[in-house]
Amino acid sequence: SFSEAEVQSARGAWEKMYADAEDNGTAVLVRMFTEHPDTKSYFTHFKGMDSAEEMKQSDQVRGHGKRVFTAINDMVQHLDNTEAFLGILNPLGQKHATQLKIDPKNFRIICDIILQLMEEKFGGDCKASFEKVTNEICTHLTNIYK
Ligand code: HEM
Repeated sequence: SFSEAEVQSARGAWEKMYADAEDNGTAVLVRMFTEHPDTKSYFTHFKGMDSAEEMKQSDQVRGHGKRVFTAINDMVQHLDNTEAFLGILNPLGQKHATQLKIDPKNFRIICDIILQLMEEKFGGDCKASFEKVTNEICTHLTNIYK
């Protein structure tokens, strides 16, 4: 669980990323797809996935980037309430495990890219403030597979 100070600094850090949710969510996905091309195999129904330039323009990638960031934003609003936090994370994890069959190693990959982008855009303190959140998300998502 998170201390009051951790909740406040994580929220402050995330607010900066979420201010441009669609652009930053898209940037995270484009980096995941280009640096880890095997992750594209889950998105065969997305068109225009052949280059980073195409992906950045894709309504499907942009819409999905926004959706992922909205889900994280919902979690960030409930860092002070473990039950509510897991109430959002667990059903999402169930869907990724059973219906989408995502290899759980990819959760760490996407979380590391989120942190990397935070550091690039807003600095090391911003990244450090959000690491515990991404750790919680990855741990719980991976535990659903056990
Ligand atoms: C769908 C969030 C990681 C693949 C979704 C949806 C959300 C979401 C909110 C929509 C769920 C719905 O429609 O009910 C997240 C979050 C992640 C994460 C918060 C981690 C921080 C991943 C990873 C992959 C992945 C690592 C694969 C490499 C997918 C796929 C869909 C999906 C294939 C369905 C997309 C579609 O058909 O439109 N995710 N996701 N997700 N996610 Fe994730």
